Amino acid sequence: MRVLGIETSCDETGIALYDSKAGLLANRVYSQAHIHSDFGGVVPELASRDHVNRILPLISLVLRDISLKTTDLHAISYTRGPGLAGALMVGAGVASSLAFALNIPALGVHHMEGHLLAPMLEEDPPKFPFITLLVSGGHTQLVHAEAFGKYRIIGESRDDAAGEAFDKIAQIMGLGYPGGAEISRMAQFGDMNRFNFPRPMTDRPGLDFSFSGLKTHTKKLVLDNSQEGGLPHPNTIADICAGLQEAIVDTLVVKSLRALRVEGLSKLVIAGGVASNARLREKLSNMVLDIGATVFYARPEFCTDNGAMIAYAGCQRLLAGESSSLSISIKPRWPISLLSVVGD
Ligand code: KG4
Ligand code: ZN
Repeated sequence: MRVLGIETSCDETGIALYDSKAGLLANRVYSQAHIHSDFGGVVPELASRDHVNRILPLISLVLRDISLKTTDLHAISYTRGPGLAGALMVGAGVASSLAFALNIPALGVHHMEGHLLAPMLEEDPPKFPFITLLVSGGHTQLVHAEAFGKYRIIGESRDDAAGEAFDKIAQIMGLGYPGGAEISRMAQFGDMNRFNFPRPMTDRPGLDFSFSGLKTHTKKLVLDNSQEGGLPHPNTIADICAGLQEAIVDTLVVKSLRALRVEGLSKLVIAGGVASNARLREKLSNMVLDIGATVFYARPEFCTDNGAMIAYAGCQRLLAGESSSLSISIKPRWPISLLSVVGD
């Protein structure tokens, strides 16, 4: 089965083609980051308008990449939620209309299930059951993935998501958007030990997270070290970035290892935009060795938003006989624990 995947939940237009036998055939992502950069975060109306502009030319490019036509498609999967309502509607509308015109099935899939399954696109994919650390701009969750579609949330952030914390703090420091990648770039040049940062909620039992205190702490540090009328010296910014990144990474590592222990599992998947963070990947890979566990993650471009993960997740569900009705219904809020189990 050859499936076109469409991702438009936030600020990336992602289009990909996945074949159930041959694997991923083509993948392109158009990032709107430059449009939202001045605002320090995604402006929903601008996001929807840009998806409208980009989506059809991008589908056309992806098909051209592998010399296929729309009539060579067997099904279309698109992100139904969670995400920005207007942005989701663009993908859902185009996917359903194209499927209707071609008389093929369309299926709306869960964005975070797409992230969770992205490592399946790599060689040596994880097998269920496993723990997933889902870390994106909107979510920080620990999920016990028992089977395809059977997900139990065992921990989550009580306030900001890890990616959101990176983005908001980057804005305070005058760095670009998306903040995680910028902070990680600056951190390479900084001294992670110059300033002290808390590791929130790590000294308490449980698997929940909280990042808003870290945000307040960093804001104060930036203010205290500001040069006259402006931001701190670039070297100080780099030191703050390094310390902050280490604090977020340590917090995620402590809770992930605890989740493996509590649930009695030995496989950990990290997924979502923050999973592309090199320090997080390195530290988790080393730390799991001590407890005889294995960590799995996708290449960085499959951690941040993309159409490949949506094409893959959709393809598996379509093969199991699922499809969406012609009346388009998006789900801007949609807990991953409410998904149907594939093959049940
Ligand atoms: O999964 P994603 O692309 O979009 C959402 O579903 O939210 O995640 C975006 C988030 C942003 O908050 C961004 O700052 C963060 O992922 N991010 C990173 C890195 N690259 C992107 N965070 C830390 N380190 C990175 N290298
Ligand atoms: Zn995402």
